[in-house]
Amino acid sequence: MRILAIESSCDETAAAVVEDGETVHSSVVASQMVTHGKYGGVVPELASREHLRAIVPVVREALELSHTPLGELSAIAATVGPGLVGSLLVGLTYAKSLSFASGVPLIAVNHIEGHIHAVIMECRHAGTPVEYPALALVVSGGHTHLFEVCEGFQYRLLGKTRDDAAGEAFDKVAKLLGFGYPGGPIIDRLAPLGDPTAVKFTFAKMKGNALDFSFSGLKTAVLRWVEAHDMADEIAARRALLRECPQPTPDQWPSVTPQRTVDLLASFQHAVIHELLTRAAASAESIGARTMIVSGGVACNSGLRKSAQAASLPYPVYFPTPGLSTDNAAMIGAAAFPKLVRREFAALDIAAQANLALA
Ligand code: KG4
Ligand code: ZN
Repeated sequence: MRILAIESSCDETAAAVVEDGETVHSSVVASQMVTHGKYGGVVPELASREHLRAIVPVVREALELSHTPLGELSAIAATVGPGLVGSLLVGLTYAKSLSFASGVPLIAVNHIEGHIHAVIMECRHAGTPVEYPALALVVSGGHTHLFEVCEGFQYRLLGKTRDDAAGEAFDKVAKLLGFGYPGGPIIDRLAPLGDPTAVKFTFAKMKGNALDFSFSGLKTAVLRWVEAHDMADEIAARRALLRECPQPTPDQWPSVTPQRTVDLLASFQHAVIHELLTRAAASAESIGARTMIVSGGVACNSGLRKSAQAASLPYPVYFPTPGLSTDNAAMIGAAAFPKLVRREFAALDIAAQANLALA
């Protein structure tokens, strides 16, 4: 059973054709990075406009690459939330129209559930299915959540960020230091060249749920460090590089980044990884997890992948391949498959929900 999936919750217009929640026949992602890069973050109005421009060719390409005529689809899935409402509306409305015109049923998918299913799909495909209960750590620009995932895809929220998401912290720290957007990939490239013990960051103890996260204090600590270390010239040099060349290659950054700053980035990344893995491991232990799933854009981070490996946890830890870690539509097609089996279709008047929760 083939599903055409559409994702447009933030700044990627994506479409994919996925068979039986397991095989990706096509996955097309049109990134808006160049548009938002110059503003140092996603501009919602521009995102909607770019989605409108991209949606028709992206969906057409996904169908063509997979050699799937509309009539052979078992369902059309679209992200219904959470995300930017103007962005969600483009993909969802397009999916509704296609569904109405073709008579193929519509399935509404939660974006966070999509991130979790990126891993479930790849594990099934590899012949090592996820065992339940599983602990899912979803870390992206918008989310830092810990879920218990039970058999039959029932979710229970165990912890979440109280302020910034981990990806947001990467992006804000990169921006304040004069690096481009998104910050995660740049910090990921530079951190291995630095000393992660150079700057000691301390975290305030969490009141209430000990499995919640907080990253805004870390961001402020980096800001204070920057203010105390006279970095104006090097920040100006990086901003000048960005003006000249909006998407610098990774080897252009070291020439405008002194070792002391590389050490700061390494220490910052180390602190984020430590927070993420400590709480994820504690949550996994509390539910007797048989698998850990790490997904979302920050799951691309090579330091996070290495640390998770090095922790030798008593259950397998699975990350998606990088193309399925950041926003894509294949994960939406995978999450839609169990709903197709249950014939859980959406009405054509379903609304986009910017703050949709998974549990
Ligand atoms: O999942 P995603 O594509 O979109 C959201 O749903 O937010 O995640 C984007 C986020 C951005 O904050 C970006 O900086 C971060 O993921 N990211 C990374 C890396 N690649 C992307 N963070 C750390 N290391 C990376 N390699
Ligand atoms: Zn996402």
